Amino acid sequence: MGEHIKMMISEEDVNARIAEIGEEISRDYEGEEVFVVCILRGASFFACELAKRISVPVTIDFMSVSSYGSGTESSGEVKIIKDIEMDCKGKNVIIVEDIIDSGNTIKALKALYERRKAKSIATCSLLDKPERRQVEAEADYVGFSIPDEFVVGYGLDYDQKYRALPYIGVVEFD
Ligand code: IMP
Ligand code: MG
Repeated sequence: MGEHIKMMISEEDVNARIAEIGEEISRDYEGEEVFVVCILRGASFFACELAKRISVPVTIDFMSVSSYGSGTESSGEVKIIKDIEMDCKGKNVIIVEDIIDSGNTIKALKALYERRKAKSIATCSLLDKPERRQVEAEADYVGFSIPDEFVVGYGLDYDQKYRALPYIGVVEFD
């Protein structure tokens, strides 16, 4: 079965929105430093572009997690595949995700950084699918709220494909 990608958000619009979020974060953290925690692999393109648009001092580290099967989702935990290497204690952590779907991942990550005694914790997601939410979870900064469609590009994949597309698109099957 073949598939093709239908464009949803252009490269120009994605980059313009990321610049806006960068300005917003820069204003909110004026006089402070931020510690960007990029959730691999989906958020990598977004987090790097965003970090470039933040005018307060930024450090960046990377973490890879996988959610447990649906049976244990209520535990509200994620499995850590790769952890950050820097200490986040006392820092202004901004967790950067690609997309919020059920909300489980971002909720669990927020709880994790609370346990790790960050000075403050904010969550930032390039995309949000509010219709899909299973648990209460909102990001402090959202790029675009989108309908319930499976999207790829700008870091997001379908079976590891399409991450490097410079725009956001919907996978359509022929
Ligand atoms: P959740 O909010 O815990 O359900 O998980 C969000 C994660 O599911 C994201 O980090 C993505 O890896 C993945 N995901 C959810 N929706 C999509 C999509 O439309 N395209 C690609 N990945 C998605
Ligand atoms: Mg992901």
